[in-house]
Amino acid sequence: MTGKKVYIETYGCQMNVADSEVVLSILKKDGYEIIEDISSADVILVNTCSVRENAEERIIGRLGEFKRHKMNNPDVVVGVLGCMAEKFRTKLFTDEKFNFKNYSITDIVVGPDEYRKLPDLVSNAWHGEKGIAVKLSRVENYDDITPLRKSGISAWISVMRGCDKFCSFCVVPFTRGRERSRPLQNIIDEVETLARTGYKEITLLGQNVNSYSDGNFDFADLIQKTARVDRNIRILFTTSHPQDMSDKLIDIIATEPNIAKYIHLPVQSGSDRILNLMNRNHDSDYYFKLIAKIKNFIPQVSLSTDIITGYPSETETDHQLTIELLKEVKFDGAFMFAYSPRENTKAFSVPDDVSYEEKIRRLNEIIELQNKISLANNTELIGQKVKVLIEGYSKKTKDELKGRTDRNKKVVFPKNGHDIGEYTEVLIARANSATLFGSPPDEHLRNGHERAGPPA
Ligand code: SAH
Ligand code: SF4
Ligand code: F3S
Repeated sequence: MTGKKVYIETYGCQMNVADSEVVLSILKKDGYEIIEDISSADVILVNTCSVRENAEERIIGRLGEFKRHKMNNPDVVVGVLGCMAEKFRTKLFTDEKFNFKNYSITDIVVGPDEYRKLPDLVSNAWHGEKGIAVKLSRVENYDDITPLRKSGISAWISVMRGCDKFCSFCVVPFTRGRERSRPLQNIIDEVETLARTGYKEITLLGQNVNSYSDGNFDFADLIQKTARVDRNIRILFTTSHPQDMSDKLIDIIATEPNIAKYIHLPVQSGSDRILNLMNRNHDSDYYFKLIAKIKNFIPQVSLSTDIITGYPSETETDHQLTIELLKEVKFDGAFMFAYSPRENTKAFSVPDDVSYEEKIRRLNEIIELQNKISLANNTELIGQKVKVLIEGYSKKTKDELKGRTDRNKKVVFPKNGHDIGEYTEVLIARANSATLFGSPPDEHLRNGHERAGPPA
């Protein structure tokens, strides 16, 4: 059916953001109009995340809001997509938890590998037929679909899907299925098209992006070829697993000038005992040596990580080892979470024996520590000039722009005639733990510095 309006909300990781662009592309091709205002939507979609309990709770709260829209207009079709669709399946139609006061909110349930079926499922839903498609695939990678991208500057490209690592706390292998990679040439074709359309930044995405393999080429080959398409395009990638961080890859990140000198490398814990229980397949010694190698090959590299506090049986001693690791590595940033038991995972079968209060206490302790470290790292940049890709206006005012450096540091600075999509050089005047603040770009021109072009 054509002419209908579709609205989508996206939760979870960047893979979900990229998937929503695939979903919108499929629906647009089928004649739907994409809108940003939920109140006039004929179809309301929510692309969901199951990684932690609070992610799910937030989305369940949104279903309550969708119920209100549906009560105003009973013809509205509500679709639950993504990881919760895969996990809860028909329960989304039937469980009280998702259907407040037994009002049936959800009409269609579509897992991450079934988005091609959306036009049929939505059109059947117009005729009152609920529909579900949640089969996980060993081959689906949507490689012939051009995502409907919002930004004309930064693009995500999913290069592989799924995860085979089975960390014992993690639901992703169950909601996303087995690892599979797109053929290298197919990705390069997409990069070339983006280059022709004027994109300035491309992020290669995968749950384990550095375990990419199409049978002939590995991730190091892929990122090198990607970087060489157009030196004016900055290349980022996420998420890397420590186990798959090869010397060849580190060398290519170091030597290709337009690959961002930024690596997100989740470690989860500093305790070998916990790392082993988590099935992370490496110990802290391996991680420290890897970090030393990366810092050696890529001077001033920026690093970030993920940490979980209160994994089952985690003691104060284990927690202190995580603190030691954070102090030693001095990450530029970290995403930190309290452990949340997830059905199906290995850890779900062992008691969740660290109390909620203790998990939060440990979490707050590492957040406070990491903020200090991030602030110290950022403070070192005061007085330096950094090259920034301008991404938009700052939250506060249109007189200020925001962008990121090739170390993925957020910078806010006065507009002074600059425009979104340009590279510029900014002199850092101030910093907090999350953001660098620049003085007007022209101020240092007056001081006799040259303005930078795009990366060499
Ligand atoms: N593929 C990536 C990220 C997966 S999910 C990786 O290999 O690290 C993002 C982060 O969520 C994880 O790194 C982990 O820190 C956190 N996470 C995953 N499952 C969790 C759980 N059950 N409880 C708390 N945090 C969790
Ligand atoms: Fe989850 Fe581990 Fe796979 Fe990351 S590597 S998605 S944490 S199972
Ligand atoms: Fe969440 Fe699924 Fe991503 S569980 S983190 S949306 S892969």
